[in-house]
Amino acid sequence: MRRDKLIVKVLSSVLYEVLNHKVSVDVAFKRACKGRCADSLEEREKLYNMARELVSDYLKVLCVNTRLRSYGKIVRFWLSKQWDDTNLPPWCHLSYQRWFYEKLASLVGDEVEELLSEMNRRRWWLRINTLKAPEEKVLRQLEDEGVEYEVDRHFPYMVFVRHSPKPVRLLKPVKEFTAIPQDKASAAVVNALDPEPGDVILDMAAAPGMKTSLIMMLTENRARVVAVDISYRRLLMCANLLMKLGVDLSKVHLVAADSRDVFLRSVFDKVLLDAPCSNSGAVSKDPGVKIHLTPSKVRYYSEIQKDLISRAVKCASNLVVYSTCSIMPEEGEEVIVTVRDAVRLVRKYPWSSPGYRVVDFHDKVMRFFPHKHLTEAFFLAVMEVTG
Ligand SMILES: C[S@@+](CC[C@H](N)C(=O)[O-])C[C@H]1O[C@@H](n2cnc3c(N)ncnc32)[C@H](O)[C@@H]1O
Repeated sequence: MRRDKLIVKVLSSVLYEVLNHKVSVDVAFKRACKGRCADSLEEREKLYNMARELVSDYLKVLCVNTRLRSYGKIVRFWLSKQWDDTNLPPWCHLSYQRWFYEKLASLVGDEVEELLSEMNRRRWWLRINTLKAPEEKVLRQLEDEGVEYEVDRHFPYMVFVRHSPKPVRLLKPVKEFTAIPQDKASAAVVNALDPEPGDVILDMAAAPGMKTSLIMMLTENRARVVAVDISYRRLLMCANLLMKLGVDLSKVHLVAADSRDVFLRSVFDKVLLDAPCSNSGAVSKDPGVKIHLTPSKVRYYSEIQKDLISRAVKCASNLVVYSTCSIMPEEGEEVIVTVRDAVRLVRKYPWSSPGYRVVDFHDKVMRFFPHKHLTEAFFLAVMEVTG
């Protein structure tokens, strides 16, 4: 097949998967690129980046040309670059849904365009996995591969990738699990638990295990974690990942259950609730989120989060950390309202942004934003249990 025809075929198929099966761009690309869709790794990577860009631009393309009906036509139109995107309203120009743009504008004001445009950019953080190798050795390996990075000033085991000559997942330390792609906001969540050797910690939504594994790294495999997840399939992935990351599996108890049914009053020193959410803060990781997000999806997750946080506060004797990779107040500040009277909120990181001014305790909860912290958009609340 001629290369340009092949490109159209693969990209159309990615679009079909994202729109019809609501899968992430990564999953859609894997399905579309099964077998030989490229002659070399470089070519495959180029095609993958095109797929990400296409999905990210999808809403914009539909604003420019409302008459495009088939996937093939959309792809060819997008590839032609013969379209004019000036004079579009800002949500179209940035390729977001109008309700989402307007909602964020009401929350962050003039910063909205900078924020949404940064959300369209993929950034990479790596966590040096000291369970598998010493920090200096991994940093040297990254340098040998030509990676330009910056060690983070808040969490010295995190590095921000300024430039990588090859895709991050193909770097040797990443393939050997000594460096793990993980966002800095995700590290901030675990660090806020202040995990210590001997702690007994409940992780209420644990799979695929990125945060559990960081708890174990920070305690040098000397904490005990009960890692619960509702999805058995995702828990299996979690077990597999923890093993590869060097976590002592005899200290992690994996439980397939609905955490809304877990009732162990004050049994755990600390509870982590990294709640299931709309993923609206993770657009940079999966631009397909922009297409599928709806107000009712946000409300759906908000209700689950309120049930889960009520349970979290009952299970902890000491500390509860709540986080979501959502940029919506319904999944952050408004969830905390449910347990406000039973906890004392701690603004752990002075360098984070405060919450939205939709609640009177907004300065006691934390938000991370791509345009300010170079992270995904995340909400974080640290709660000492008092009631
Ligand atoms: C944001 S992900 C967790 C990511 C994980 N903490 C990590 O860092 O790798 C949310 C998880 O919550 C799980 N989940 C959804 N509803 C749940 C419930 N009611 N009880 C327990 N787990 C649930 C999902 O299966 C999903 O794995």
